[in-house]
Amino acid sequence: MVLRFFPQKEKYTPDESQFEFDPDGNLPKHIAIIMDGNGRWAKNRRLPRVAGHKEGMETVKKITKHANRLGVKVLTLYAFSTENWKRPADEVNFLMQLPVDFFDTFVPELIAENVQVKVMGYEEYLPEHTQKAVEDAMEQTKDNDGLILNFALNYGSRAEIVSAVREISKLVETDQLAADQIDEKTIADHLMTGFLPADLRDPELVIRTSGEERISNFLLWQLAYSELYFTKALWPDFDGEHLEAAIAAFQQRNRRFGGLNEEEKK
Ligand code: FPP
Repeated sequence: MVLRFFPQKEKYTPDESQFEFDPDGNLPKHIAIIMDGNGRWAKNRRLPRVAGHKEGMETVKKITKHANRLGVKVLTLYAFSTENWKRPADEVNFLMQLPVDFFDTFVPELIAENVQVKVMGYEEYLPEHTQKAVEDAMEQTKDNDGLILNFALNYGSRAEIVSAVREISKLVETDQLAADQIDEKTIADHLMTGFLPADLRDPELVIRTSGEERISNFLLWQLAYSELYFTKALWPDFDGEHLEAAIAAFQQRNRRFGGLNEEEKK
């Protein structure tokens, strides 16, 4: 008999867990997450990469419910970047099917939880079945006023900025706007987060899982003052406890927006 030894992979506990999460403390209104590590999660289990994405979809369900119950207003999830088309066709096809499966099984719960679904990205380039799934989900949840679950799907921040510049240029070209009227608000209005109320457009907390510490073309304008939190946990292992650890870290950060706190002015 051949005995196979599968080494126990380390499952990372929440980083920075020395900070206690305070449910009555300052809660980020908008949290954005770069969901990374699905492939490594699968590889650790000798499973195909897509098994990691499937498990990652289950994490999306758990984290959506958890964030909503905590009272977070917007949860933006980086589900597919404009660069992800470079992956093998089988993986891309799987990722394009995921929203269909997700909404097929999860829309009733989203409705029960009062969650509103939104999608930002170049939707017109998605396969028709994916477009239909997200359009239906947005329509079915449009009257909900709890958490906004905002999927960045075929999203890239540099492309988003280019699109905004083109839109604004057209307004100038057609004399609807003078060049010197363009300010930060004009730009923010034309970015893909422009559908959100002005005070909710910029994430206060950005989380990236899997130990990578980069932004990867995500919300480049919007995260000018965001707190960044990196955890080694792979996305399929990320749970409510990890989310609370990230918020706990956020709660003890000293956000100054370039100025000084009252204490520091003395
Ligand atoms: C990055 O991990 C993850 C993705 C490119 C896809 C993320 C998608 C999900 C978590 C599911 C989304 C669910 C819905 C409903 C749209 P990776 O594959 O780059 O992981 P690796 O770096 O370990 O290879």
